Amino acid sequence: MKEKRNYSFDYEVYASLNQLSVADQKLLYAAVEVSKDAYAPYSNFHVGAAVELENGEVVKGSNQENGAYPSGLCAERVALFAASANFPNVKMKTIAIYAEQSVEEGDQISPCGSCRQVMSEYELKQDSDLRVLLMNGNGKVWELKSSQLLLPFAFKFKATKK
Ligand code: THU
Repeated sequence: MKEKRNYSFDYEVYASLNQLSVADQKLLYAAVEVSKDAYAPYSNFHVGAAVELENGEVVKGSNQENGAYPSGLCAERVALFAASANFPNVKMKTIAIYAEQSVEEGDQISPCGSCRQVMSEYELKQDSDLRVLLMNGNGKVWELKSSQLLLPFAFKFKATKK
């Protein structure tokens, strides 16, 4: 027996930043600002991420590269790990991600698989959605209600008791 299954999801596309709430605009601006200080001398691809917490704090991150290439880290994980380290028991509400260039013309900046995995696990941990806002230099914004939409069949770790 075989059955065909399907995965799809809805997301919003805003033609410009000013269609969003003031809070979301501020968060996206924070991502834009922090992207300017990315340490990305090797790729020259500057990314900023800003995580809004339930207590109103905004924790920012930019990509941090290293001459030993795999040692570097994406903006999203810099921000997510900083948020979790500094506010371990505060829920993350929204992550805004910005890169001036999109990967391909007409495309949207979109987090890598490892960052999706990390977002997905924090959602499970906090038992509530982490909304994702994506923006690049053309000013278009994509909104996803939950990061889990970006990673179907995510790996969920269950420790085995020894
Ligand atoms: N990068 C991010 O910071 N976030 C992404 O979503 C994709 C890629 C960084 C990693 C590296 O420093 C540079 O962009 C080029 O891949």
